[in-house]
Amino acid sequence: MTKVYLNGEFLPLEEARISVLDRGFLFGDGVYEVIPAYGGRLFRLEQHLDRLDRSLQGIRLAVSISHHDWRDILQSLLPTGEMGDQAVYLQVTRGVAPKRDHSFPVVATPTVFAMAFPVVPPEPGQAELGVAAVTLPDTRWLRCNIKAITLLANVLLRQQAVDEGAAEAILIRDGVAHEGTASNLFVVKDGVITTPPDGPELLPGITRDLVVELAGLHNLPLIQAPIAESRLFEADELWITSSTKEIVPVISLNEGPVGEGVAGPVWRRVWALFQAYKQQIRAGLVD
Ligand SMILES: Cc1ncc(COP(=O)(O)O)c(C=O)c1O
Repeated sequence: MTKVYLNGEFLPLEEARISVLDRGFLFGDGVYEVIPAYGGRLFRLEQHLDRLDRSLQGIRLAVSISHHDWRDILQSLLPTGEMGDQAVYLQVTRGVAPKRDHSFPVVATPTVFAMAFPVVPPEPGQAELGVAAVTLPDTRWLRCNIKAITLLANVLLRQQAVDEGAAEAILIRDGVAHEGTASNLFVVKDGVITTPPDGPELLPGITRDLVVELAGLHNLPLIQAPIAESRLFEADELWITSSTKEIVPVISLNEGPVGEGVAGPVWRRVWALFQAYKQQIRAGLVD
């Protein structure tokens, strides 16, 4: 029986109900987080909760759940004992308003929902197979740094990539590549790793930030700078990162090979550092 959290209660998934007047349902008026848990330990929880706070501030929604309370709620959702890796999904919406009106209701209680689900991180042999990507015009809004549940543009763009036989779309705005539909972007050229800087055009990924941190700790040259679309096609390596997919080499772009058309040596090094970091999480040495 899957147990979920809804508005202060833990209950079986089948019994969790919200109103059809919830503004999350009617307007996509809410924000979310996805947080992996390795060996029962939540990955970079504080960073995820800080980003949640920024998303909530970004949509002007006040929620009175402290980080300490969040930790208790999310930890309670994780199965105990021997288990594979998990992730928790949490979502906060502006709640139920008596009338469907775009402007904020005078009084509304946020709807808070969370659940855990199993994740299967890619095995080394599988990860290095990489994926295909395509470039597509970024049709999203200009507040992509908010992790909003309003994901229709991302959904349509990802589906277009899938229809074109690719796993992800790399999104281009004014000739600049910012991120994927559900991932951040890294380019490697002549041994130097580049990722776009934070800004309204992209989500500040927690995986991305860890890659930046690991590169710094291990003296790998990494810069945060805008990436012109043309540079994607001259890259030695391209990677995309996200909490559930980790670090994925992009081996073909718009049907042409990226670099040698196989996972590259810089990816191999960073992927190994990331796996070692995960082992430290499992051992309770870091979070
Ligand atoms: C648009 C977008 N960019 C980047 C990411 C990667 O963020 P994180 O590493 O925190 O999962 C995601 C994750 O879902 C995303 O939806």
